[in-house]
Amino acid sequence: MNSPDYRVVLDQQGVESSVARLAAELSEKYHDGVVLAAVLRGSVPFLSDLSRAMSIRSVVDFLAITKYERGTGRVRLLKDLDIDITDREVVIVEDIVDTGLTSGFLWGEFSRRSPRSLSICTFVDRPSARMVPVELDHIGVEIPDEFVVGYGLDYRGRYRNLRMLASVDADILASDPDAYVEALYVS
Ligand code: PRP
Repeated sequence: MNSPDYRVVLDQQGVESSVARLAAELSEKYHDGVVLAAVLRGSVPFLSDLSRAMSIRSVVDFLAITKYERGTGRVRLLKDLDIDITDREVVIVEDIVDTGLTSGFLWGEFSRRSPRSLSICTFVDRPSARMVPVELDHIGVEIPDEFVVGYGLDYRGRYRNLRMLASVDADILASDPDAYVEALYVS
């Protein structure tokens, strides 16, 4: 069977230059260091590259949330940060902000802990999917209403480790989750 078509949103070079730009923005803004609070699991590739591209010191910590049921808006912390963020400069690191439910929840949760500052850095922003308004301080790339995989973004666990970001057909993936493996991993 022929591989289905896809659109490259950012190739490897595009990913790297977006990360470099974001790292420069953060390095410029937080001279005294920053806490990078990353949401498991999709943000891991971005966090890894971002933290190493920054020229300031950083502390990395992780959190995990429950999958909300579509439409309910419910989000719950499954794993909290290990460190105390009181009086720290904190950046929430996301691979994608979609409905905004995750980052909106985290914003409220972390704000109550009295950080010195709190901001959100997302690699991908899909504003067309927004259900709750969130203020995004640092954005790698804004995408239209498309389904994307790669650079942390998965479909049922697949495609996360691609070095690029690709727009694919969600209907095709629904019938065959591996439909894009040949095309995306060979080219
Ligand atoms: C994704 C992504 C964000 C969240 C964004 O996580 O990593 O955390 O969804 O979506 P939202 O703006 O609609 O809340 P996902 O639940 O797919 O888990 P994963 O990172 O482990 O793939």
